[in-house]
Amino acid sequence: APHFQHKNGVLHAEDVALPLLAQKHGTPLYVYSRQALRDAWESYRSAIGDRKVLVCYGMKANSNLAVLHEFKTLGAGFDIVSGGELARVLAIGGDPSRIVFSGVGKQAWEMKAALDAGVKCFNVESEAELLQLSAVADAEGKTAPISLRVNPDVDAKTHPYISTGLKDNKFGIAIGHALTVYQRAQSLPGLRIVGVDCHIGSQITEVGPYLDALDKLIKLIKTLAEHGIRLAHLDLGGGIGIRYTDETPLSPATLLDNVFQALKDNGLEHLELVLEPGRSLVGNAGVLLTKVEYLKHGETKNFAIVDAAMNDLIRPTLYSAWHGVVPVVPRGGAEAPHYDVVGPVCESGDWLARDRQLNIQQGDLLAVMSAGAYAFTMASQYNTRPRPAEIIVDGKADHVVRPRERIQDLFATETTLPTA
Ligand code: LLP
Repeated sequence: APHFQHKNGVLHAEDVALPLLAQKHGTPLYVYSRQALRDAWESYRSAIGDRKVLVCYGMKANSNLAVLHEFKTLGAGFDIVSGGELARVLAIGGDPSRIVFSGVGKQAWEMKAALDAGVKCFNVESEAELLQLSAVADAEGKTAPISLRVNPDVDAKTHPYISTGLKDNKFGIAIGHALTVYQRAQSLPGLRIVGVDCHIGSQITEVGPYLDALDKLIKLIKTLAEHGIRLAHLDLGGGIGIRYTDETPLSPATLLDNVFQALKDNGLEHLELVLEPGRSLVGNAGVLLTKVEYLKHGETKNFAIVDAAMNDLIRPTLYSAWHGVVPVVPRGGAEAPHYDVVGPVCESGDWLARDRQLNIQQGDLLAVMSAGAYAFTMASQYNTRPRPAEIIVDGKADHVVRPRERIQDLFATETTLPTA
């Protein structure tokens, strides 16, 4: 990650030394780089050129208002999955006509809120949802623009928990059934068909699965056209992976060049393309800064007990995800022992990294790398641990974009029962 580099033996975020941030703001601490956000955006923008592509940031990856505002300013739309995410986008003045609304379980109030805001598209995931959306829109006297999220049944070759395009998972409408559901949509009040959508998974590293899915979508688009159903856009979802360790994920340029070639070959270049990238826009723009509280040298294992835990970053626990762990001020010399890097939470699953060779001492700072995506947004307060502060570094400046939670706030709204 070019914006997190050691300079004179000290890990920096841009031009700010991380020990300084630890001192100022405490640990554990999420630190993001503004330039890294901009660079990630630029990799999409430059790949797009003058082609018709709307990038709707998959904001579930990192929904801090400052991050959203930065992407809005750069020209992003947003992919939302809840009324809560919609409220965040509206809070930063995001343009509703650049919002797509995904998710298998949209509730009536969320549909209503999105209709009132005027979102670009609802990505509908079932026939039952279609019926409810039609009813809500009709009652509101509105028309809901829709895509069907189809499930193309392709293997994204990623972790099973984050693979979403196979036929036995909960997402989307089986592609073989899509025509029937589109025709159903045509016959219902309050709906306007505008596109087709799919999302096959996350942390995808090859272009192949996208092209397999695209192939199937193109066939569907042609079939729909034969039945008089014409679409304005094609949404290929998110999913481009990032480098956590030694992956070489496909680039936005590779994806776009291949997709537009296929569209052209099929006479479909008039379609607007929508993408919903999350991880690839933010994943390598952040680190989780943590302090070594204790070292514990055991008979079979050594543990580095740090002040960050599974409640702050659950990806290792949940997916056995690998995150780099880097000493902020590396110590030279001696053969270093191997450690499991674990947190203070009372669960065996509370680990951040396993079997890492680290030359460290009590009190040292470690950076858990690639912690910009699905990190803070998946954090909890388990063990009544306040969630960390979030900082964005911009050159020499650091901005607190979310203060550390205070313990008293964690239970401020709770009450005890009346006494009998
Ligand atoms: N669009 C839809 C409909 C999605 O479900 C997702 C992510 C995205 C876009 C953004 O995908 P991305 O570009 O970030 O791959 N918590 C997991 C990842 C879950 C992804 C869920 N869907 C993790 O930490 O790896």
